[in-house]
Amino acid sequence: MSELQSRTSPFSGGLFIKTYGCQMNEYDSDRMAKLLEKTYGLSLVETPEEADMLLLNTCSVREKAQEKVFDELGRWKKWKAAKPNRVIGVGGCVASQEGDVIRKRAPLVDVIFGPQTLHRLPAMIEEALALRTATEQDKKLKKRAIIDISFPEIEKFDNLAEPESNGVSAFVSVMEGCSKYCTFCVVPYTRGEEFSRPFSDVMAEIESLAQQGVREVNLLGQNVNAYRGEMPDGEVADLAVLIHAVRAVEGIDRIRFTTSHPNEMTQSLIDCYAEVPELVSHLHLPIQSGSDRVLAMMKRNHMAIEYKATIRKIRKIRPDLSLSGDFIVGFPGETCDDFKETLALVKEMNYDRSFSFIYSPRPGTPAASLPDDVELHMKKRRLQALQAMLNEQTAAISDGMVGTTQRVLVERLSRNSTNEVSGRTENNRVVNFEGQPELIGQFVDVLIEEAYTNSLKGKLVATPEAEQFSQRQFYAL
Ligand code: SAM
Ligand code: F3S
Repeated sequence: MSELQSRTSPFSGGLFIKTYGCQMNEYDSDRMAKLLEKTYGLSLVETPEEADMLLLNTCSVREKAQEKVFDELGRWKKWKAAKPNRVIGVGGCVASQEGDVIRKRAPLVDVIFGPQTLHRLPAMIEEALALRTATEQDKKLKKRAIIDISFPEIEKFDNLAEPESNGVSAFVSVMEGCSKYCTFCVVPYTRGEEFSRPFSDVMAEIESLAQQGVREVNLLGQNVNAYRGEMPDGEVADLAVLIHAVRAVEGIDRIRFTTSHPNEMTQSLIDCYAEVPELVSHLHLPIQSGSDRVLAMMKRNHMAIEYKATIRKIRKIRPDLSLSGDFIVGFPGETCDDFKETLALVKEMNYDRSFSFIYSPRPGTPAASLPDDVELHMKKRRLQALQAMLNEQTAAISDGMVGTTQRVLVERLSRNSTNEVSGRTENNRVVNFEGQPELIGQFVDVLIEEAYTNSLKGKLVATPEAEQFSQRQFYAL
């Protein structure tokens, strides 16, 4: 038990976390919650009113990040005024970039931490609490908010709580940061350069998750296919080696990875689609634009044809590969012809759900100094046209699934009905169907009967693992 755990918790209420942005941030918020529960016994609550601690986990990848933070803090003022002992913290990428500005502009904030220092939260909170009883002179010297936005790399992974599953599917962060420096992107500056966790640490976490009943892992990283984890023998494991090792973990029967860079789709990673049946036929591979001119200005370091060749190779192995991507419209200098090339690429590749954004200049990035010359109404029109095409493709894929039998990992009881359960297909579609809670954690076969915008409805047709599961329960008795 740590020194902090052995003390009586100074908090009687709960923990409220508001998270902006990507999966990495969701993952970080989850880890923060677990750490603070372990340290202070704080459990998550739905509203700031019920909380003793309010944390904002921010994201600055896209527009208006800073304004959003100050707007939210403005709304939190009343909660601090109502109960001045509440601890307020700001973390994530905006904290990393604007830590000092937040400290100056928002005196209600007690702690400011970056994506790589969230494991130091308990120590920072202790310092903030100590400051409350300090003399005015000491307070002035400390300038109020406790701030730590450094990049201590491995330390974060080593100090976070032991892996704990929330169910049958788990995210496992295998690397952090990005060293690609696309000209529009703030991530390398806010999260630091690529840094991979040692291979055996990742494997130990996955083995522990499998023992807790996890059946699916999603290997997570800002640029996950740039994974280069040191192995005990001094060799370096890339993502392909890691996937092969994860496959051998008993109980893990589905593997995903997100999010990837086209230039890191090595032949050995592509070969995994032939060699590892547990690897899903679903790939999120951002391209941003279909125009080579724009790709060069973005410093993506590849051409559209190379991206297409990669997808073609994987589809040769897995003809049913479901592909999703990220797209940016209105990058400085993007012409109508450039945009048409994006539409042509989308048409050719056939995407199954994707993310598309209007370009927004990010302070400190090289593209921010280019004239933002595509007019807003044009950016909006392009986004609309792109999203219409992407939505049409997604709907056609969902409709095409009707009448097919899909392997579904049952995750939980359905939100819609008490006699229904809910799971996911390989291409990450939510499927609801009639079934008993005993099915949770099993791979089952479901005949898809109806397709909606965000989910599918089906009928259970086979439970290939039922016997194995009842035996497992029998042995556990
Ligand atoms: N690793 C991924 C890749 O290979 O491209 C990207 C991760 S990035 C954090 C997530 C997405 O945010 C990007 O793919 C891009 O589409 C979008 N994005 C990043 N910076 C942006 C900006 N300045 N304006 C609009 N969208 C942006
Ligand atoms: Fe950003 Fe490009 Fe890395 S989009 S996260 S700098 S691959």
